[in-house]
Amino acid sequence: MRRLLPDPGPTSIDDELAGYKPFEEPQEDRPFVAVNMVTTLDGRASLNGRTVELGKKHDIELLLKLRTRFDAVMIGAGTMRAERYGRIISDPEGRAHRETAGLAPDPLAVIISGRLDLPFDAKLFTDGGGRVLIFTNDENPAPETNTPVELVRVEGPIRITEVLRHLRQERDVRALLCEGGPHVLGQLTAAGALDELFLTISATLTGERDAPRILEGPLAEPEHLDLVNLAEAEGELFARYRRRR
Ligand SMILES: NC(=O)c1ccc[n+]([C@@H]2O[C@H](COP(=O)([O-])OP(=O)(O)OC[C@H]3O[C@@H](n4cnc5c(N)ncnc54)[C@H](OP(=O)(O)O)[C@@H]3O)[C@@H](O)[C@H]2O)c1
Repeated sequence: MRRLLPDPGPTSIDDELAGYKPFEEPQEDRPFVAVNMVTTLDGRASLNGRTVELGKKHDIELLLKLRTRFDAVMIGAGTMRAERYGRIISDPEGRAHRETAGLAPDPLAVIISGRLDLPFDAKLFTDGGGRVLIFTNDENPAPETNTPVELVRVEGPIRITEVLRHLRQERDVRALLCEGGPHVLGQLTAAGALDELFLTISATLTGERDAPRILEGPLAEPEHLDLVNLAEAEGELFARYRRRR
């Protein structure tokens, strides 16, 4: 892997994340929010309905190592249905790394699902490790799962600003990593709550007409970000953008 910006030279995912402590930057009414996503060159967020064919080994390493830095990891129901998550940190070494950094061994897994139409047979729910918090409109109880699941019932629209406020003030989440999908990124950006975007640019053109873009949903105005870091490995670009202040 080589860093292109700043200070060009050889690097690694560990070097890129050295000293990265997003939990030191919470706001009073919301956590620090970083989003990690992958895009194709033609701006698509999936191939054949999933992301698995888009990111190569450095992208996966980045995904897993970012998870060791945040109090909570959030996804939308569409992502859970497509990707069928397992335990967020399945590797005991990753959990040990978190504890050394003063974090809980497992990040809180957060899902937003209006309809509660989720794959409860996925390993995130069957593994038994970690904790899951679901924001939903549905009035039914969640099925019995090995992993503890708590529902936050919301009457009316689930507003992302209220989700973030709840996470910060009721769950002590200082730093939140969002792994998508496109509709959740749209809501975070529209709410002015996107602090940082880790974007892997896969050297792939798909032309898949039905695939979403990495951000779906209207924005009142374009969001301009600053590129703060750029690295390359095996033809993939690893860009990190921060919100322009
Ligand atoms: N390229 C990437 O990095 C990346 C990352 C993640 C996902 N993806 C891809 O994106 C696709 C899924 O896209 P998506 O936009 O459907 O994903 P999404 O944003 O994860 O999920 C959208 C769904 O989440 C629920 N939801 C989100 N916000 C809500 C709110 N405020 N109120 C109520 N419900 C809310 C709704 O589900 P209910 O129907 O349950 O109410 C909604 O249909 C998949 O193909 C996945 O592979 C790509």
